[in-house]
Amino acid sequence: MTALADTWGINAAQFWLRGQRPDREVGYDEATGMWEVHGYPEILRALSDPATFSSHTQRLVPEARGFSEGNLTQLDPPDHQKLRKLVSHAFTPKVVADLEPRIAEITVELLGQMQDRAELVADLAYPLPVIVIAELLGVPAGDRDKFKRWVDGMFNSTNKVSIKDRSPEDEAYFASAMEQVGELANYLTEHVRERRAKPREDLLSKLVEAEVDGVRLTDAEITNFGMVLLVAGHITTTMLLGNALLCLDAHPDQCAMVRADRSRVPAAIEESLRFLSPFAAVSRVTTEETELGGVRIPADQMLLLWIAAANRDPRQFADPNVFDVTRDPNPQLGFGRGIHFCLGAPLARLEGKVALNLLLDRFPRLRTDPDRAPRFLPSPNMTGVSELPLRLR
Ligand code: HEM
Repeated sequence: MTALADTWGINAAQFWLRGQRPDREVGYDEATGMWEVHGYPEILRALSDPATFSSHTQRLVPEARGFSEGNLTQLDPPDHQKLRKLVSHAFTPKVVADLEPRIAEITVELLGQMQDRAELVADLAYPLPVIVIAELLGVPAGDRDKFKRWVDGMFNSTNKVSIKDRSPEDEAYFASAMEQVGELANYLTEHVRERRAKPREDLLSKLVEAEVDGVRLTDAEITNFGMVLLVAGHITTTMLLGNALLCLDAHPDQCAMVRADRSRVPAAIEESLRFLSPFAAVSRVTTEETELGGVRIPADQMLLLWIAAANRDPRQFADPNVFDVTRDPNPQLGFGRGIHFCLGAPLARLEGKVALNLLLDRFPRLRTDPDRAPRFLPSPNMTGVSELPLRLR
């Protein structure tokens, strides 16, 4: 049987989507100078030991250092805990839950503009999360074409990331990605300065005002955190929506079950996060010599933890290559695990639930377009559609 990943034309590097397992769960890749980890228990161990497996990977990538401050994903304890506590004061479960009616309103408006031959990403899966995160932060949603240009510039390489022997092509790509990051940073810094002078009712203002034990955030911290939210907050959810729809479309029996019983929508979202994990890998760097999966790893080594591959590990999941919305429990790692567990998971799950329910309500005959194949993002570190043509009726 041809794997769905082949039918869909997903990046060949993502072998786990083709039912294959690596020769070793932990191995060194000579070409990139990084350690690759694909197994569930090995990844779980690394994610639960931040003292040995540090998140401050940018220390090995000097060009990126300027953007570490305030970037939660780069911090280790105790700084991580301090910043996470501070931003959690502004980005609370209530702030997210209160967004539900607005998410539904935006979705209904976007669905209303869809033609019979729609394209999910451009028509819904891209604009919805961007409008939501922009409104939440308090930056004009109308600037979303700019965000798209900057973010696309960061993720449009088909090459594997390498920390050694970068080719001139890699260097040029890296330089241009950093330029895009710089432009986005300048844009956000301007907004942060404005909020300091004149606070409004938005997340940027709340971040400016947030205080824990007399400590406040600097402009650079808010800018970099805002950048993480804007980037992480939209492309990943775009991928989640596209992937969930693709999974349901490819498994009509599962789709029928979800259509018949909408309380299954959240489980269908979890299973699509396992089956096609948008954020395929997270990285860590060793602070000392250690052992992982029976392999000795020296200090100061970069690790790529392929959570997408762990989500297909047969040691953890029975029939890992079967898409099963009744899977319970489903301890999928799509949002990471441990102290860096995705801060936006409640928002992503809410957007996924609202959008999927409204799509199913409105289009009883919704299916992928048999004449126009989906297109996937080129990066091996991402699994998600960049185009998903649909037939609505
Ligand atoms: C962290 C995935 C949506 C904000 C993470 C991590 C993963 C992830 C795997 C862990 C990174 C690590 O351990 O190094 C996803 C996926 C999403 C999603 C698959 C959608 C389906 C969002 C949204 C937001 C967001 C909507 C914000 C609005 C963050 C932040 C962190 C994070 C701030 C860093 C947390 C920390 O380091 O303490 N996400 N994310 N994510 N995510 Fe998400």
